Amino acid sequence: MASAERAFLARTPAATEALGESLGRGLGPGAVLALLGELGAGKTTFVRGLARGLESPDAVSSPTFTLLHEYGGRVPLFHFDAWMAAREESFLQSGAAEYLGGEGVSAVEWADRVAPWLPAPRLEVELTHAPLPAGPEEAPDPVPAARRIRLRVVAGGTGPAAAALAAALAAALEALRAPPDAREEPFPAGGTPAGELR
Ligand SMILES: Nc1ncnc2c1ncn2[C@@H]1O[C@H](COP(=O)(O)OP(=O)(O)OP(=O)(O)O)[C@@H](O)[C@H]1O
Ligand SMILES: [Mg+2]
Repeated sequence: MASAERAFLARTPAATEALGESLGRGLGPGAVLALLGELGAGKTTFVRGLARGLESPDAVSSPTFTLLHEYGGRVPLFHFDAWMAAREESFLQSGAAEYLGGEGVSAVEWADRVAPWLPAPRLEVELTHAPLPAGPEEAPDPVPAARRIRLRVVAGGTGPAAAALAAALAAALEALRAPPDAREEPFPAGGTPAGELR
């Protein structure tokens, strides 16, 4: 059984991007990624890597004001940003539901704002700022650039298609490798609030 949860500490933007790239290499049509994390947590940085993993030649930028950017590649990538969407439910009105789970890979920034409309199974990617604690074996981080990145498959749906998608997401997660400047950590079992991890 493929593991359905992983957690990493990424020390640099390049490491966050490389994790996204590693994941992207394993994803196929229908994958939906729910990106969670506060302002500047690294959601767009992660999607930039994802696009590279999907062999997209396109430049990735935050679709904060346009809601959706579409990039080419081995599989199309639909990049949503729901930051502004919650108030007027423009996420649904824009036809987002028709993209999600369709022929492409979808990545939704600020996914918590449109949670009721996200399909399952999906892959939840939560990024948090992670100032490194000054422990006995670890020097304090001179620049607080580290991010904790937690990934898990959210189960849901019924029938063989949902089961196949959940298995594909779990397999992509399983294939994820920590790049340089990142290390794997145990996935927190108890749902520790963001920012309080050690
Ligand atoms: N380890 C890291 N991983 C990702 N980004 C990092 C890291 N360290 C520093 N950064 C910086 O943090 C910023 C992250 O910006 P990014 O646009 O990816 O965040 P975001 O979560 O998409 O923000 P927004 O909420 O505005 O959409 C970038 O300036 C990046 O260089
Ligand atoms: Mg962003």
